[in-house]
Amino acid sequence: MGLLKTIVLGRPNGLRRSLAGKLGLSSPGAPAAGSSAVSTAAATAAHEPAERALGLRNEAPKDVTPPDGYEVVLHKDSLDPGKIIEIIIGGTAIAVANVGGSYYAISNTCAHAGGPLGEGSLEGTTVTCPYHGWQYDLRDGVCKTHPNAKVSTFPVQVVGNAVCVQI
Ligand code: FES
Repeated sequence: MGLLKTIVLGRPNGLRRSLAGKLGLSSPGAPAAGSSAVSTAAATAAHEPAERALGLRNEAPKDVTPPDGYEVVLHKDSLDPGKIIEIIIGGTAIAVANVGGSYYAISNTCAHAGGPLGEGSLEGTTVTCPYHGWQYDLRDGVCKTHPNAKVSTFPVQVVGNAVCVQI
């Protein structure tokens, strides 16, 4: 039951559990059917509430015109170096990472069993899935644990203070 609860609700100190609590969908730690999907969808129904729900320091700049095909996903100062975060943009879950001031975006969904890579740990350009520890290189999405596995990567450009991702 513990693993299933973690898969559905996220880790006790994870983003999904925190979002559910902040959105009043459930008290943190309390089971609520589909809370991760609801909280994520609610948080991203409009872009501004997602930023508040995520507790990001700065709103994504609204005065930036992203390159063709790109979406502004967050303010570049909202994500400290060495951090990775889960963001839903255009209905797609991505994980955005800051590696020494360079930003990377990959699919949020682990190729093993769908773990949320945006809740994983980051060391250099390697993200470790929080569920079973598979590791991925942010630069090409290749799984270091099982090299035949891979996740999608997305081009990133920083325009002014905006981190923009091509979805
Ligand atoms: S879900 Fe198992 S390692 Fe990611």
